[in-house]
Amino acid sequence: MARKKINRIGILTGGGDCPGLNAVIRAVVRRAAQSGIEVMGIRDGFLGLLEKNASPLEPEDVSNILTLGGTILGSSNKDNPFHLLEKDRKGKAHFRDKSAEVPRNLKRMGIEALVVLGGDGSMTVAHKFVRMGLKIVGVPKTIDNDLVGTDQTFGHDTAVSIATEAIDRLHTVADSHHRVIIVEIMGRYAGWLALRSGIAGGGDIILIPEIPYDEKRIGEAILARRKRGKKSSIIVIAEGAHPKGGKMVVDQVNPLSTERVRLGGISRQLAHHLEAKSHIETRSVILGHVVRGGTPTPFDRNLATLFGVKAMDLILKGQFNRMVALKGGALASVPLSKVGGKSRQVPLNHELIHAARSVGVSFGV
Ligand code: F6P
Repeated sequence: MARKKINRIGILTGGGDCPGLNAVIRAVVRRAAQSGIEVMGIRDGFLGLLEKNASPLEPEDVSNILTLGGTILGSSNKDNPFHLLEKDRKGKAHFRDKSAEVPRNLKRMGIEALVVLGGDGSMTVAHKFVRMGLKIVGVPKTIDNDLVGTDQTFGHDTAVSIATEAIDRLHTVADSHHRVIIVEIMGRYAGWLALRSGIAGGGDIILIPEIPYDEKRIGEAILARRKRGKKSSIIVIAEGAHPKGGKMVVDQVNPLSTERVRLGGISRQLAHHLEAKSHIETRSVILGHVVRGGTPTPFDRNLATLFGVKAMDLILKGQFNRMVALKGGALASVPLSKVGGKSRQVPLNHELIHAARSVGVSFGV
């Protein structure tokens, strides 16, 4: 039976922003235009599907956005249609499942398929809609690189590059003052960002969630460096790192978010502990959202373009309910059902861990 031609698709960006989102939007719009498919840009993630807030995206609308950080469509990591916060007239908050409105709204807007750019929260929501009959292709976005099903997400390389530059700068401060400086880097429950920027930035100690640390060992590593005449040390710590038998430091819990727990603050805690024990001046710096902003690297612009085109290719072939992926250096796709609700951590036998150890990095164990 001949496949029904898709005439109009929608595209949305869900979850936290990330460099490369606009490059994907540009690739999707341009590839779609070549095939005579209209694209509607949906505003503010899944919220736009509830509010029918969308407008056509023509090739000229995506001109000059290849290098632009953030997302021209707006994003949200709240506003999950399956669990949406609403306030009643008395101001009391209620969660409602408004997902049934989405297929109706898409029909009204004439949108036959969706491209969803997002991390595991958005892919989980996308998969729930797939089970309701929607046609969706996912594109893996996150600076954390923790999405299951792909070796790399777009945005990660840019974040590594920004974090590395920050570490480079902190070296001179640490050297001048003979200090220990602890740099905390985002990444949620995975250590990819801290590990890659830590190695690239010549971090002396790298602490990641996958390898719970022992403060005593960190102290010993700092003292061993001092004995060798190295008076400063840089510790690169992932926001999800934690001591053996200890917990991750939670900055806030947001019940509205598709990612309820916000991590942050472990570097401060560790700095206090290390300084109290060693009496060596110790400072902490949280890079936070800085690593998420700004222009994507050439690698991310390439990956985002490849992913956007691949997403359109899947749609043109009628292959829905999949997420585009990079596997062993080649473009691929995986079922959406295999992606959401999990975190892809750094395997302990990963070559990056071996390489770091081989050049003298301590993991605090
Ligand atoms: O997933 C991307 C990320 O930047 C994480 O590294 C971080 O834990 C989280 O999002 C921060 O989220 P928010 O922007 O909501 O503070």
